[in-house]
Amino acid sequence: MEIFSAGRFIKTGKELRVMNPYNGSLVNTTYLAGEKELEDAITAARSALLPMRELPSWKRYEVLMHIRNRLTEQREKFARMICAESGKPLRYALGETDRSIQTFTVAAEEAKRLPGEYLSLDWTKPGECKEGIVRYFPVGIIAGIAPFNFPLNLAVHKLAPAIAAGCPIILKPSSTTPLSTLMLAEIIHETGLPEGAVSILPMDRSTGNRLVTDPRIALLSFTGSPEVGWKMKAEAGKKKVVLELGGNAGVIVGKSADLSLALNKCLSGAFSYSGQVCIHTQRIFVQKELVYEFSYRFATMVNQIRSGDPALPETEFSSMIDEGNAIRVEQWVNEALTGGARLVCGGRRQGNWFAPTVLTGTHDDMRVCSQEVFGPVVTLEPFDSFSEAAARINNTRFGLQAGVFTNDLSEMDEAFANLEVGGVIINDVPTFRVDHMPYGGIKDSGLGREGVKYAMMDMLEPRILVKGRR
Ligand code: SIN
Repeated sequence: MEIFSAGRFIKTGKELRVMNPYNGSLVNTTYLAGEKELEDAITAARSALLPMRELPSWKRYEVLMHIRNRLTEQREKFARMICAESGKPLRYALGETDRSIQTFTVAAEEAKRLPGEYLSLDWTKPGECKEGIVRYFPVGIIAGIAPFNFPLNLAVHKLAPAIAAGCPIILKPSSTTPLSTLMLAEIIHETGLPEGAVSILPMDRSTGNRLVTDPRIALLSFTGSPEVGWKMKAEAGKKKVVLELGGNAGVIVGKSADLSLALNKCLSGAFSYSGQVCIHTQRIFVQKELVYEFSYRFATMVNQIRSGDPALPETEFSSMIDEGNAIRVEQWVNEALTGGARLVCGGRRQGNWFAPTVLTGTHDDMRVCSQEVFGPVVTLEPFDSFSEAAARINNTRFGLQAGVFTNDLSEMDEAFANLEVGGVIINDVPTFRVDHMPYGGIKDSGLGREGVKYAMMDMLEPRILVKGRR
């Protein structure tokens, strides 16, 4: 499969073999862009700045709707590719494809709603007889760096807002899972966007790092690990930086909660795509009176999860992205057990498969609590008062999203007022996300927000026109 540089599909001297994480088979071969291909893409993106800026809203809408419609036609094909390259169970890969369709739909709509403002300037004497018009202009070339875990939709969260905002974009997909995004390039190519408007270039880390340091890039939008993201920000110079990083998301199950609802949601929040999700439900806090029943029923449900070949429609759980990550998760679990935690269920590893695992008796400073596990592990702990649970949710360097199961209005209010996160989700898990909501974290979890309109605001810059009679 060829890579997409400045409106052309090309091969390079460096082959990249993409393997299926479930069975180790070759999915397809593609290429890594080198310095030259990246330089060509940057040069072409510079030439595309003006035509992209001048693209009228109706045209941006049509381009985005074309992509959306073609993606809808090929839904199953895209989902099968996501499944093969990432090992994501087909049912979730179909869900991801549907979300990508929705992300393009929202971007098409937002392309018609670019912000603007009329401002009277006579609030003070010097502004008398003057008025302002604020318009938002594309910021320049965007660099997007996307992760392996949602290979299509998290790339789309950079591509679609960039097109809607009128910015050329160079996207680096994860080298582990670049194929679904390269399939998308074939659809983007049909739209007749200016050459250089979109390039999709798998790269090794040192070549990709040019996107971070090159001053011709106006905005870097990175989704990935906190360690890498904050290092990139330090190296990014004067460009704008948006970071969508990870967390150790927590959920509170209060005494007024609908327990069956909470159990079902926590099950999928904790174990869908083997917990390799930034808003994976990692820490569950249950009110003391309910914890025994919750724990018993949860363990029963976890033991019934259907694990197997991700390509089968009935499969709910499969392998992790690679053995290195499964070994890391195993080490963290063993370290917690040595430190006094107890296994409710799971804890076994086989190659790159790690069993859905529930731990209890953990302490906030264990790595399974304090770090981003990014694996199928959840901790389950009792609490006495709602405020105590909220304090434990906050007792971390992360702050992406939090979930709260409660039917008590005052607890909902307390959660919204006091939880230090980018999103508080009532009666659902922190893993909840729809694609037009503002999404991002505080503390070490990131900087800025995605969610199409919110991503576009970073890709646009206000300019004021002051008109006066004197
Ligand atoms: C992420 O893992 O960063 C995003 C999760 C999602 O989009 O649902």
